[in-house]
Amino acid sequence: MGPIGVFDSGYGGLTVLKEIVAELPQYDYIYLGDNARAPYGNRGFDTIHTYTLQCVKKLFDMGCPLVVLACNTASAKALRTIQQKDLPHIAPDKRVLGVIRPTTEMVGTITQSNEVAILATNGTVSSQSYPIEIAKFFPDVKVFQQACPMWVPLIENNEHENEGADYFVKEYLDKILSQSNNIDTLVLACTHYPLLLRKIKQHLPAGITVLAQGKIVARSLKDYLHRHPEMEQRLTKTGTRSFNTTDDPGIFDQMAEIFFGQKVASAKIDADHL
Ligand code: DGL
Repeated sequence: MGPIGVFDSGYGGLTVLKEIVAELPQYDYIYLGDNARAPYGNRGFDTIHTYTLQCVKKLFDMGCPLVVLACNTASAKALRTIQQKDLPHIAPDKRVLGVIRPTTEMVGTITQSNEVAILATNGTVSSQSYPIEIAKFFPDVKVFQQACPMWVPLIENNEHENEGADYFVKEYLDKILSQSNNIDTLVLACTHYPLLLRKIKQHLPAGITVLAQGKIVARSLKDYLHRHPEMEQRLTKTGTRSFNTTDDPGIFDQMAEIFFGQKVASAKIDADHL
């Protein structure tokens, strides 16, 4: 028996945890942000796999039978290897879920024009995970991608509401929209990006639906637990939330409030001991 683990490279996963907690408040949650080694977005496959696996193992050691990778970059570059190669050896009875599948499963039900835009980190875009997964569910949907490498640093430095952010919001929106006039659905495929939602909507032409993942992932987790009573019964339900970071807890707590919408008090986990 244990809590649900929620992992992200840093703060972004808190936008997902916030929606999961709203949808499923009864469970216990342990959040782990690998802030000391974030951002993951421009890192290579092996590094992202190594870091993500270390953090997943840590959450297992802390008692979590189930871990959600609330990070697109980790979901794109590490999830499949962890599920198929690592889990059978290290913890065959535990489960790790990601954020890409729940998003791609429903994107085709939103678009009318069958043209969808994905905004994400370099790592997620180069993995081609979104086009590959969307093609499985909706082969007729055309997928356009744009990496937005300046958005995570803007958000991590709390500059996302300032005037300077408009330049980079507009730059990447112009780039993705110049790929086609027919795009009607824009997926924020990075868990940080919901913090830029206000500015994104300001700069976006009317008629384009913007999808943030938090609620989608939360509903999908609820559905997963419904379909997997053997896992659901292993989750403790006392409504606690614990927050952990590999960097300075004081800095984490300040920033976390912006992403989670509530004050948090985190503990430090040393990345060197993962
Ligand atoms: N939160 C990560 C994601 O969803 C991006 C942050 C990073 O680059 O580490 O892709």
